[in-house]
Amino acid sequence: MPASRSRPYADATIGEKVSAITALLFHMPFVLAWTLLTSPFHINNAHKTWRRVLSDKFLYFLTVNLSTIQLQWLNGDSLYVFKNWTKQNGMSALTDDIDENTRLLWIGRPRTDRVILYLHGGGFVLPMTDFGLSFWKRTIAELKDRGVDTGFAIVNYTLVPTAVFPTPLKQAALALNYLISSGVKPENIQIVGDSAGGNLAIQLISHLLHPLNGIPPVKLSAPIRGFYLMSPWTSLSSKGGSLVVNDPNDTTNYRSLAEWGRQVLKGIPDSQRPYIEAIKAPKAWFKDAKKVTDRVLITGGDAECLWDDIVLFADQFCKNHDEAKFVVQKHGVHNDPFFDFLAGETKLGMLTPIIWEWLTDGFKRS
Ligand SMILES: *[C@@H]1O[C@H](CO)[C@@H](O)[C@H](O)[C@H]1NC(C)=O
Ligand SMILES: *[C@@H]1O[C@H](CO)[C@@H](O)[C@H](O)[C@H]1NC(C)=O
Ligand SMILES: *[C@@H]1O[C@H](CO)[C@@H](O)[C@H](O)[C@H]1NC(C)=O
Ligand SMILES: *[C@@H]1O[C@H](CO)[C@@H](O)[C@H](O)[C@H]1NC(C)=O
Repeated sequence: MPASRSRPYADATIGEKVSAITALLFHMPFVLAWTLLTSPFHINNAHKTWRRVLSDKFLYFLTVNLSTIQLQWLNGDSLYVFKNWTKQNGMSALTDDIDENTRLLWIGRPRTDRVILYLHGGGFVLPMTDFGLSFWKRTIAELKDRGVDTGFAIVNYTLVPTAVFPTPLKQAALALNYLISSGVKPENIQIVGDSAGGNLAIQLISHLLHPLNGIPPVKLSAPIRGFYLMSPWTSLSSKGGSLVVNDPNDTTNYRSLAEWGRQVLKGIPDSQRPYIEAIKAPKAWFKDAKKVTDRVLITGGDAECLWDDIVLFADQFCKNHDEAKFVVQKHGVHNDPFFDFLAGETKLGMLTPIIWEWLTDGFKRS
């Protein structure tokens, strides 16, 4: 196969499969044991429970030591992760076909009175995670306890290299149109995204403000109620700074982020860069953001590789929207709220209740 052509999704060779399993079975236990022994002496672990020390390191180990193809092979695609997770939780996997490549995956039963639409992370190359799904399942229950019943739909957008930008944006726009045409009012929709899903959510805001040719237009009768961006990936080509300094503190790492960024940006014309790299957008790009979304919540942690770019984006964006809010978790890692659910942690991070209250308040306005 020519080196310049990218290999199909998850198409690992036998050698790559063997080395991935060898790393997991024979190398990782030693790394985790060593991490546990030394963690009391490491400044970034001092505030973490042993469960979080281990699960954060587990993810870091995976992204540092395994290639994208190996990670794709180990995880499967989003549909697979979803079906596996629903089965494990004794739930039925309800899906709506939107087109031959795009589905809505529902946690719980489909509803039209209120819907949270989720755009998952994974660098546009990896599927959603089951611990991310567990975070959202708990979120739905917490909103219910606060008097708000909501549907929760996930867009299973296509990953690189099967499809590249702007395909995920097209699929997200189709999903939003699908909800609206099913009778969900924009003021009863909140869109949430983590990491690359946060990037995709920002792409959607950009498309609503500056419709992109070739992407289905979205007609809003009112602004979307809210967008929540967890650790959004706002620049795919940044170098240095927190990417280097925070690499040893984070659950993801510089090398992987840089490689995924290169793969994703390949072939995107300069004129379309503002859609996928929001911090490179012209100053006035988000000036009418209030017309397309009532509220925006952005969160991040200061121990993230992506920290510098999140701060830059949040500062710019909040200047353009009087109900945009940026909340920071000290010592927080990438997608920190999700990791309590990988670790089986009972004491949840400081962002989690803020996210729940914010989503509840959004729906209670209608
Ligand atoms: C795997 O990652 C860990 C960091 O989690 C590192 O210490 C180790 O050297 C890596 N192993 C290999 C074989 O790359
Ligand atoms: C599938 O679910 C099982 C538990 O039923 C879990 O141990 C496994 O990690 C899951 N696999 C993937 C790829 O998510
Ligand atoms: C999304 O769903 C389609 C079926 O509609 C499936 O063929 C595809 O593999 C899924 N994509 C991902 C990324 O999970
Ligand atoms: C990141 O790690 C370095 C070295 O371990 C440390 O000096 C720094 O304070 C950490 N940053 C944060 C925000 O935790």
